[in-house]
Amino acid sequence: MRFSFTFLGHSTFLFGTTTGKRVIVDPWLETNPSCPDSFKRLRELDLMLLTHGHRDHTADAVALARTTGAQAIAPYELAQWLEEKGLKRVFAMNIGGTRSILGLSITMVPAVHSSSIEDAAPPRYGGLASGYVIAFEHGLTIYFAGDTALFGDMRVIGELYRPSMAFLPIGDVYTMGPEQAAIACALLGVKTVVPMHYGTFPELTGTPARLRELLPASGVEVLELKPGETFD
Ligand code: NI
Ligand code: MN
Repeated sequence: MRFSFTFLGHSTFLFGTTTGKRVIVDPWLETNPSCPDSFKRLRELDLMLLTHGHRDHTADAVALARTTGAQAIAPYELAQWLEEKGLKRVFAMNIGGTRSILGLSITMVPAVHSSSIEDAAPPRYGGLASGYVIAFEHGLTIYFAGDTALFGDMRVIGELYRPSMAFLPIGDVYTMGPEQAAIACALLGVKTVVPMHYGTFPELTGTPARLRELLPASGVEVLELKPGETFD
């Protein structure tokens, strides 16, 4: 099968692997204003990766795992919460670790952000916010930053894992904006950047067009997908 990924709005992406597995990162579907209706109720899913506890990254995680039987990977404290919700196939990780699952090699990497679980008051500690480096079976390695500011160790992520593609937040306010994301591309050494975490709310002002303006000479491709659009 052909590798693909579909942007479901905000920071939610659905990957299709060459062995036919379906992997979602940071599922926010039902109440996500950017998620197309046709994707709000996924029926088939093999794995979900969660970067941190905030609702715009986890709102549909429990329901989706229950209805599809998908396995879940999350930072340790978030994984504990998923297990308390009754999910059986939850695999905890922490920063720096790697797990092999469904033919993928998944490394949890740092993010400069916070993480709390907000389904009850007061909010509960969600562990450290994270990103992921995902090495797919067919040789592609991607860096999925989650919510983060720019940080200098992105250079180390680039040197260690050599991702060719980075999924970076660009909306500003809660994460980095286009200016920091442009520097992130240079530190990571990626050929392609997929912008995310923009446009969902009026306060997220960073745009792919601004990022493109900041990357003229470097040759980094800005792969801008509309919600519901698939790259393959
Ligand atoms: Ni967040
Ligand atoms: Mn967020």
